[in-house]
Amino acid sequence: MPEGQHHEAVIEVEGLTKTFKVGDNEIRALKGIDLSVHATEFLVVFGPSGCGKTTLMNIIAGIDTPTKGTVKVRGTNIFALKDEARGIFRSEKMGIIHQMSYWAKSLSVLENVALPLIIEGQSEKSSLEQAQKVLDTLDISELAKQRPTQLSGGQQQKVGFARAMISSPWIIFADEPTGNLDSKSAEEIMLLFKELNEQHKRTIILITHNKEYWELGNRRIEMKDGQISKDSKHG
Ligand SMILES: Nc1ncnc2c1ncn2[C@@H]1O[C@H](COP(=O)(O)OP(=O)(O)O)[C@@H](O)[C@H]1O
Ligand SMILES: [Mg+2]
Repeated sequence: MPEGQHHEAVIEVEGLTKTFKVGDNEIRALKGIDLSVHATEFLVVFGPSGCGKTTLMNIIAGIDTPTKGTVKVRGTNIFALKDEARGIFRSEKMGIIHQMSYWAKSLSVLENVALPLIIEGQSEKSSLEQAQKVLDTLDISELAKQRPTQLSGGQQQKVGFARAMISSPWIIFADEPTGNLDSKSAEEIMLLFKELNEQHKRTIILITHNKEYWELGNRRIEMKDGQISKDSKHG
């Protein structure tokens, strides 16, 4: 039913808890999160440092495992998958932009952007061609041959963005992506998220402290001490 599909949840989180054990101490980073995110949403997540934002993102993306609870991504219970299958699922369906970009340092920008496709098993030639197209789209094709570590923070974030969108993922996660950027680069990156959401119909989950960017999204959740304390939709 088309109407049903339109409102389909991309992400369904139920009863999620995460406890880290550090020596004899237990840190309860997530204390019971229920969250359903729809395909059309651009979700902004904020809250004080240490409230569990990154932990929540890492678990939804299947990078970290929950202590309790389930995460379904378009109906797939990701922690019922074996580690390798979950890794492949993530690389095909999710794009992640971390606070600091991690690069394969010996590879060029073009090769770094192509890497997710090569890992998925596509041919090197086709992967590099697709990477070139994404760089063209983002107007950064002149960076293709450089090493990512030689670039400015703003350029690195754009390349990180290219790498996150190369496999046309359902969901793009960004963890304080503009933390280290000047305001012009930050604004450019943020407008790319908006475009991906509105024109390319991707679900966006953006963690940011910066109030300026809150209205870019159409839903906002606030976290406090391992829980969701506010949830508002708008726009
Ligand atoms: N790998 C880890 N080992 C131990 N404690 C962790 C680990 N990751 C996060 N924590 C703790 O979990 C809590 C939530 O952290 P985090 O999700 O990074 O918060 P935020 O992203 O909102 O700043 C913090 O108390 C943090 O110290
Ligand atoms: Mg964090």
